[in-house]
Amino acid sequence: GSSSSESADNGSGSDTIAIGFSQVGAESGWRAANTKDIQDTLTEENGFKLSFSDAQQKQENQIQALRSYIAQGVDVLAFSPVVETGWDAVLQEAKNANIPVILTDRAVDTADDSLYESFIGSDFVEEGQRAGQWVADNFKDEELKVVELQGTTGSAPAIDRKEGFEKAIAGTDIKVVDSQTGDFTRAGGKQVMEGFLNSHDDIDLVFAHNDDMGLGAIEAIEAAGKKPGEDIKIVTIDAVKDGMQALADGKINYIVECNPLLGADLAEVAKKVVAGESVEKRIVVEDAAFTQEEAEKALPDRKY
Ligand code: AHR
Repeated sequence: GSSSSESADNGSGSDTIAIGFSQVGAESGWRAANTKDIQDTLTEENGFKLSFSDAQQKQENQIQALRSYIAQGVDVLAFSPVVETGWDAVLQEAKNANIPVILTDRAVDTADDSLYESFIGSDFVEEGQRAGQWVADNFKDEELKVVELQGTTGSAPAIDRKEGFEKAIAGTDIKVVDSQTGDFTRAGGKQVMEGFLNSHDDIDLVFAHNDDMGLGAIEAIEAAGKKPGEDIKIVTIDAVKDGMQALADGKINYIVECNPLLGADLAEVAKKVVAGESVEKRIVVEDAAFTQEEAEKALPDRKY
């Protein structure tokens, strides 16, 4: 519409905050919802000039994007790191240029936490633990063979969800008999599940680190002539629309939510950081969890 003629000068002099955001990729329904929320929230009406880039799940692309935002002299950098390690050099470059960094969704593993201002996102260990606790509560007296579809190797959610799940089932007869990465994609989940079905004839349950891989597993299980949700139970994380629909349809058994709506917190923290105000180092986003009955009730009002 009639946008003001005030020119975006990368922050120096105008009130508009120039923010460079490097996204992980477009690997999942969760990621699509997260991207949409960030783009819908960091708008010019809200006082932002957003530069957005998609790293296609490659760390080198993210580092390149961050370097180019630093060279442009943005006011704030924000990113969701595809993997946990290997960020110190580029974060130090941002610090040397006096550009504050906000992490969203995924954490970095660094010894120097002065390299970023704040980390906004879910507690992934707790998500894995809640998924494992549901399995333990429902099958605690049974010998259960579980296969695990891991997220992207080296990413915070893959590392933490695995750890949380293992903690919850420790000391039970529930055993993870195979575990491989499906890269958080539907195609990856399907392919890895096909392999699991070929090498194990007695799988009881799939723990998928996200809905998309669980949805891929459903395809593989159906193609093998079995009933997902019955012959082979499925527990996932995210609670995006397609996952919730499969849960309501009885093909998934339980989903722990991972809330992708991080835009409002990011906007607030970015404004404070630019204004020189202090911010919380860690903002934990709250997640729900859903059984099949709860999914049916929640579906009509789901935002993503
Ligand atoms: O980092 C969050 C995870 O990344 C989501 O659970 C998954 O769907 C996405 O790809």
